[in-house]
Amino acid sequence: MKVGIIGSGGREHSICKSLKNSNKIKKIYCFPGNAGTAEIAENVEIDINNFKNIKDFILDKKINFIVVGPEKPLVEGIVDYLEKYKIKVFGPNKKASQLEGSKIFTKQLCKKFNIPTAKFGIFRNKKKSIFFLKRSKHPIVIKADNLASGKGVYICNNINESKIAVNEIFNGKFGKAKNILIEEFLNGEEMSFFTIHDGKTFKNFGTAQDHKRVLEGDKGKNTGGMGAYSPSRLINKKLENKIINKIINPTLKGLRELGQTYRGFLYTGLMIVNNEPYLIEYNVRMGDPECQTLLPKLRTDLSEIFIACFEKKLKKLNIKWLNNKSLSIVVCSKGYPNKYKKKVEIKNLDKIELKSSEFLFHAGTEINNKKIYAIGGRVLNFVALSSSFGIAKKNIINNLKKLNWSGGFYRKDIGYKVINK
Ligand code: AMP
Ligand code: GLY
Repeated sequence: MKVGIIGSGGREHSICKSLKNSNKIKKIYCFPGNAGTAEIAENVEIDINNFKNIKDFILDKKINFIVVGPEKPLVEGIVDYLEKYKIKVFGPNKKASQLEGSKIFTKQLCKKFNIPTAKFGIFRNKKKSIFFLKRSKHPIVIKADNLASGKGVYICNNINESKIAVNEIFNGKFGKAKNILIEEFLNGEEMSFFTIHDGKTFKNFGTAQDHKRVLEGDKGKNTGGMGAYSPSRLINKKLENKIINKIINPTLKGLRELGQTYRGFLYTGLMIVNNEPYLIEYNVRMGDPECQTLLPKLRTDLSEIFIACFEKKLKKLNIKWLNNKSLSIVVCSKGYPNKYKKKVEIKNLDKIELKSSEFLFHAGTEINNKKIYAIGGRVLNFVALSSSFGIAKKNIINNLKKLNWSGGFYRKDIGYKVINK
């Protein structure tokens, strides 16, 4: 079979690698991929916003199915578009992608179906927002409604910070803002819960915890994710049942009432407060770097899982996992998430010899004349599996020392909550 993967990050490289391990897959195309995918697949230089060109290429090459990595094309309806041409696409359609595309859509669903989430209000202008905020307890959370790559969320400790947030959002920092969301601050521990859906049923796809802030100790600006570990230290059978019964099942019911089914990965971002799950956000895709952290533990052929989803036979498939701990550390370009240099060469990659329990996934890299260059903010993902998080991290740090890349940096404290000092 031939498959295509849309995206160019570490998530997509890890999906590519898992599919490469399948003897069912003969050829993989990445739209547009990175230097890592170039080694095991064919990178296709097509703008992923150009659905027509992607469609023409897929039909021309007779690609059997497509996996969509990032949220943007999903929210913009790539699944609906390609399905019109009878192309099989793994990912939710435009309507279902509103779960990530519009925080207000999700909040209204929560309200209608009694899904536990932070108390919230929707405000349409600066004046009404600030009137409300002046009378509210802080800290409080203010969110832009649009897709903002995790950056449109402000945790405000006082009314001055709240005013800045309201002004920035309504002044268009994250695109045109008709509404903002003001939410109660939930004080607990976060956890990411993954499921895979075939439109009829779903299966659990692991748990993880990522580190979104750029600085050690979870300080500084938000990023796409500086590292992650799996499983989350919070998960147990009782909590899993609560998440499924109180959050995921009512969400699927809500979508059904709108005439929608859900096919794809679903990433449920939770705050766990006194053993109770509260929905913080949905993402209609795998997490990055959570995907890179989870997939190396997968023992079932990933292509079989996708095919079972297309055939709506996921229920019958037993998805098997290694029982190991997994940890990932992301190497970023110096300066990220602010300004950073592009086209910086990464040397020493050939000095790294990975053991069978170690993985290196590329993100913002490009290959040119056999040299690898950093072209993005998040550049490389080092992953290791082990019986302990501490050993996994030690093995990664050893590899990172061999890399010794002066153009980048990484957080040395990934997993500090699960690693004893
Ligand atoms: P989101 O993009 O909605 O996931 O929010 C980004 C981050 O802000 C989350 O990962 C949380 O760390 C934090 N956050 C969002 N909403 C809340 C809330 N209601 N209470 C506390 N923290 C929150
Ligand atoms: N690592 C966070 C995300 O993928 O949204």
